[in-house]
Amino acid sequence: MEHPHWVPSSVDLTRPSAARVYDYYLGGAHNFAVDRELAEQVIRELPELPRMTQANRAFLRRSVRFLMDRGVRQFLDIGSGIPTVGNVHEIAQRVDPHARVVYVDNDPVAVAHSRALLTEQPNTAVVHADLRDPVRLLADPGVTALLDFDAPIGLLMVAVLPFVPDCDRPAAAIAAYREALAPGSYLVLSHATDDAGLDPEGRVKALYRRGSIQVVTRTRQQVTDLLDGFDMVDPGVVYLPLWHPDSAEDVAEHPERSGAYGVVGRRV
Ligand SMILES: C[S@@+](CC[C@H](N)C(=O)[O-])C[C@H]1O[C@@H](n2cnc3c(N)ncnc32)[C@H](O)[C@@H]1O
Repeated sequence: MEHPHWVPSSVDLTRPSAARVYDYYLGGAHNFAVDRELAEQVIRELPELPRMTQANRAFLRRSVRFLMDRGVRQFLDIGSGIPTVGNVHEIAQRVDPHARVVYVDNDPVAVAHSRALLTEQPNTAVVHADLRDPVRLLADPGVTALLDFDAPIGLLMVAVLPFVPDCDRPAAAIAAYREALAPGSYLVLSHATDDAGLDPEGRVKALYRRGSIQVVTRTRQQVTDLLDGFDMVDPGVVYLPLWHPDSAEDVAEHPERSGAYGVVGRRV
């Protein structure tokens, strides 16, 4: 297969990537045959997956607007993915053009695309770093140049922690970010769960594993535990459509079919 010009030469086109598979679920064009193959297999197991990812993006949009309403003007979006409709800076800068957003991902394709999209975009930066290494990530010049850690920051970890198993100590990483944040900052988190029994035999995880991607789901209690040290904003850890819906009609009859929890915590 020919290496597309927009793909960094270090990227192995024979292995799927979580970022590009997710791009496919959302109807994006930045994915390869190997990503589409995995995505199609997953959709066969869980036909609602594209709708689940849309519910996740809708939660992201609502939570960013919520934080803007509370005066937050800077965002650190870790595991930001391949840019798609309704990126964080678009939502935030619609309210305040001076809002600042740093996008972080460990996938080179997501980073390359974000950079291409944002070269001319004021008050944004793109950083290639890993959530699991908070010391390095927080010291990255792209982060420190744009964000003021003495003022509130919206720290976004949206659909990224399923790629961080317990052996990689996600709770310790979150605690390190929490310590770096000023009081009045927020953590926005969404997380896939098996609590509703949508994939009782773990077939989706097995498909990802075959593509060398480890995925973990977490229970409501495990997601709650990740928020340790944050004051949970009402209504706490809930299925995505139930978190501050724009209107009652936006809540589907079966919110648990979103397959993921959303929660926002405030740093006190
Ligand atoms: C499912 S996508 C979510 C994208 C976006 N946050 C959203 O919710 O629409 C997960 C993203 O997390 C990134 N990711 C996975 N593990 C990561 C890590 N350890 N550090 C940084 N990014 C990571 C993947 O590359 C991918 O782009």
